[in-house]
Amino acid sequence: MTAFHLDCDTGIDDALALAYLLGHPGVDLTGIGTVSGNTAAGQAARNTLDLLALAGRDDVPVATGAHHPLGGDFAGGAGPVHGSNGIGGVELPHTTRMPDDRSATDLLIEAAHRHPGELRVITTGPLTNLALALRREPELVTLVHDVTAMGGAVRAPGNITGNAEANIANDPAAAAEVLGAGWPVTLVPLDVTMQHRFTEHDRAALAGHGTPLTAALAAMLTSYFDFYETRFGERQVPLHDPLAAGIATGDLVPLDAPLLGLRIESDGQVVEDTAARHPTKVVFSLTGAAAPVIRTLILEAV
Ligand code: BDR
Ligand code: CA
Repeated sequence: MTAFHLDCDTGIDDALALAYLLGHPGVDLTGIGTVSGNTAAGQAARNTLDLLALAGRDDVPVATGAHHPLGGDFAGGAGPVHGSNGIGGVELPHTTRMPDDRSATDLLIEAAHRHPGELRVITTGPLTNLALALRREPELVTLVHDVTAMGGAVRAPGNITGNAEANIANDPAAAAEVLGAGWPVTLVPLDVTMQHRFTEHDRAALAGHGTPLTAALAAMLTSYFDFYETRFGERQVPLHDPLAAGIATGDLVPLDAPLLGLRIESDGQVVEDTAARHPTKVVFSLTGAAAPVIRTLILEAV
C-alpha cells in the first residue's frame, strides 16, 4: 500500500473522491486536511468525519485547516453548487468524533516525515494548506513524492469566471506558491474533468448498493445533478475531484499530459509566474472512461 494524504473542501465531488480512495486496496490514507472552499474548513471537517463514520473508517485522522485564503477573506462557499453545508443539504448522522488536535499543515508535515520521499498528496480544494505547510517546512518539496491537484482551467473556460476555476480562484496566491515550489505537481484542470461525468445510471448504482455511505452519496448527487442540469441540459455531473484521485492512484491514465509553465492570474493581474521555472504536468485527456472506474471503487468503500 502507498501512503496518501488528502487535502479537501468537502464538497459533493470531494466526498466521491474520498469514497473512491477508501475503496482502493492500494491506498493507505494517512490523514485528511480540510480547507475553506465549497464550504468553511470547519464544516468540511465535520462532513469528512461524518462520511468516515458512515464508512466505518474512524481510524483516518481529520485536521481542520485554513479558514481564510492567504491574504484575504473566505468568500463564503459554493452554496448554489454544493448546498449550504457543502454536501447538498443532506443531513448525515453526526459522529461525536472531533477533528484532530493538530492543524492540517502539521498533519501533512508529520505524515511527510513519517514517509520520507514516499507520501503522495492529493488536493481537491484551494491550495492554502499546502502553501502554509511549505512555508513552515520547506523540506516538504523533497519529503513529498508528488502532488496531484484538481484545479485550473488551462485552455478550457473557467467555472467561476470566463477564465477562472474555483480551487485556484479561491486562493490564487497559494496556488502560485504550490505550483512554483519545485516539487512534482500534476494538475487536473477543468479541461479534462468536464469531460468525465456521472450519469443517473451511476447515481442509481450507488443508491441501489444500499450501504449508508453509498446512500448518502446518492442523496448528495441529487442536488448536484439539479445544479448541473441547468448547465448541461442533462442529468450529469463532472467528476472533478475523483479524477484527481484516480490519476494519483494510477487507475486513470493520462493520454495528453504535457509539462507546461503556468501563469496564475488574479483579477486580471499575474500573481506570480514562478511556475514557469517549474513546469507542471497538466492532464488534458485520459486513455479511457473514468466513471466506471470511480463508481466501481466507491462501491468497494464499505
Ligand atoms: C472544484 O471546485 C469545487 O467546487 C469542486 O469540489 C472541485 O474541487 C471544481 O472547480
Ligand atoms: Ca473540491
